[in-house]
Amino acid sequence: MSVHDLETPCVVIDLDRLDRNLLRMQARCDGLGLKFRPHVTTHKIPEIARLQMDAGAVGIAAQKVSEAAVFADAGFNDVLIPYNIVNPRKTARLADLALFNRITVAADHPVVIAGLADAAKANEMSLRVILELATELERTGALPDEVVELAKRIDADENLHFVGLLVYPSTPASRPALQEALNLLHNAGIGVDMVSGGGTGAVRFAPEIPELTELRAGTYIFNDWKAVCKSWADMDDCALMVAATIVSRPTTERAILDCGSRSLSSETVDGGYGFILEYPDAYIYTLSGEHAHVDVSKCREQPVIGERVHVIPVRADMVINLHDTVYALRDWQLENQWSVAARGMVW
Ligand SMILES: Cc1ncc(COP(=O)(O)O)c(C=O)c1O
Repeated sequence: MSVHDLETPCVVIDLDRLDRNLLRMQARCDGLGLKFRPHVTTHKIPEIARLQMDAGAVGIAAQKVSEAAVFADAGFNDVLIPYNIVNPRKTARLADLALFNRITVAADHPVVIAGLADAAKANEMSLRVILELATELERTGALPDEVVELAKRIDADENLHFVGLLVYPSTPASRPALQEALNLLHNAGIGVDMVSGGGTGAVRFAPEIPELTELRAGTYIFNDWKAVCKSWADMDDCALMVAATIVSRPTTERAILDCGSRSLSSETVDGGYGFILEYPDAYIYTLSGEHAHVDVSKCREQPVIGERVHVIPVRADMVINLHDTVYALRDWQLENQWSVAARGMVW
């Protein structure tokens, strides 16, 4: 079966590119003496996580408890959740998962730590906790001068175990805070087993941050148009595409594809919604739910109704969460079909 036999819109994955992306990242980490922990939230597919583990990953990172549970059920038992898990129902699910799996969970505040402690106590167990440090992303994370107090609080609780520090992204800009926090912990006599950094765009900085013991990356497995625009990847590294069909040519400037925001998501980069492989000079300037509006005025060849094209989406991880199935291709022939098992597992 060839890619042309698949109904559009659908997600296709170039396996040669995926293999190359995964082997290159693992080799990079091996070369730096860093453990590698793929972030599975990008693909949400256990079969791909298996390929990553077979290549040498030490475990996985999953963003939410429900996502972690899908992968734990599929046999991935070392899971880092780099996310504050808040609310007794969620922490109870987390603690249940940690009864049978090696779960490490992030925290950045005493309230979060207290919630984890309650859940671990209810299960009469010990939970591994990693403190997240704030970075230039200005998202979650504690400040360096809060870390000693938080680590002491974790270790003082008989149901919690402090394992180290986590940053996202791990860039030269985030390093001074990391160094400061590590110094303060060292001076307080608190041991640090792991320092987890991450981000596909940050991987190139890893040699400049010797404090790291492991790296997490997700986007690298597929790459996407955003990664290309940010120079994290080349176009030839983009393994995931949305196959689509030209369904209308209302004017000489405009073509309409059958993939809208329900297939591509509404993510944009530089104002565009994706890159059409067959028409590099075309520009997807807006989306309806089921239509992509494409300016083809600069294209030398003009697309015709019924023609199939392949769109590199702006964010592969957003696209994955919109599709039940992906089609894995080699030389444009169907080799495999995978369910997106953790689709919608965002709770
Ligand atoms: C905490 C954390 N670590 C790692 C990653 C992986 O980043 P990337 O997809 O850029 O490789 C993410 C992405 O969502 C994240 O939120």
